[in-house]
Amino acid sequence: MIEIIEKYSNTSYTSLNTRLDNLQAILKKDFAGKLNAHIRLYVFKDRLELGFDKSDGFGFKDFYIPEHRVFLLKKQICRTQPLIKAIAGKGHRNKIVLDLTAGFGLDAIQLALFGFSVICVEKNPLIYSMLRDLVARIGVLFMDVALRIRPILGDSKEFLDLVGHKVPVPEIVYLDPLFPGHEKRKTAQKKYMQIIRNVSVGDDQGEDISLIQRAMDRAKEKVVLKRPTRAEVLEINGKLPISQVHGRGHRFDVYVK
Ligand SMILES: C[S@@+](CC[C@H](N)C(=O)[O-])C[C@H]1O[C@@H](n2cnc3c(N)ncnc32)[C@H](O)[C@@H]1O
Repeated sequence: MIEIIEKYSNTSYTSLNTRLDNLQAILKKDFAGKLNAHIRLYVFKDRLELGFDKSDGFGFKDFYIPEHRVFLLKKQICRTQPLIKAIAGKGHRNKIVLDLTAGFGLDAIQLALFGFSVICVEKNPLIYSMLRDLVARIGVLFMDVALRIRPILGDSKEFLDLVGHKVPVPEIVYLDPLFPGHEKRKTAQKKYMQIIRNVSVGDDQGEDISLIQRAMDRAKEKVVLKRPTRAEVLEINGKLPISQVHGRGHRFDVYVK
């Protein structure tokens, strides 16, 4: 169940009303009914926030990603950082990356900070709303970075059918599927993933091999797949990764066309 709670009293602001209408429209009942947890979506004048019922056993505080975090991420961006190393290699940064599992967009923001144009597809309307809100807030601080991020609400499998027709063919496709709950990540990452898991509906768990296979068919240059450090190596369309880049608790498997 989702409750949308307005935290801003003066509703005469057209932009806020429009935003609320949009939210009601995209968080349709068929999605809300599938959620296991009771989620609140707080609509502040300047941001959205997720509210969790602390009695559900997770005990989360209300959650949103402050746009100022971009300053911190910006400092860390370099070619040796695992995500950038896997996606960019030694190549140029003016390429299109298609992120098929966008989540709240932390990876996409880092890629955009490096210089990539990132199309981010997210099928969960609640997560997508938070992603779009974050990109809008980042735009106030770094318009150039926000302009390089294009959030799309939809299922990536359907989106891939548009590639080459209505959507330009991306040089690189990136996937970060939700791993089963046993991954060994640092506490902050674990909490972030648990929040995503908590607002996901049942069928979002685990890797969708057919999505990865279709991504391989569509990418111009390569596909990068994020996986837990100890997960087995996947053979995709008869190919094994040509390289692996290791991060803390996860790795990036790089498949070339
Ligand atoms: C582990 S999270 C990604 C986190 C993201 N990399 C980040 O930095 O925030 C996986 C996300 O992929 C989304 N997802 C899974 N399957 C999808 C599909 N077929 N189409 C679009 N989004 C999908 C889930 O809803 C979830 O939000």
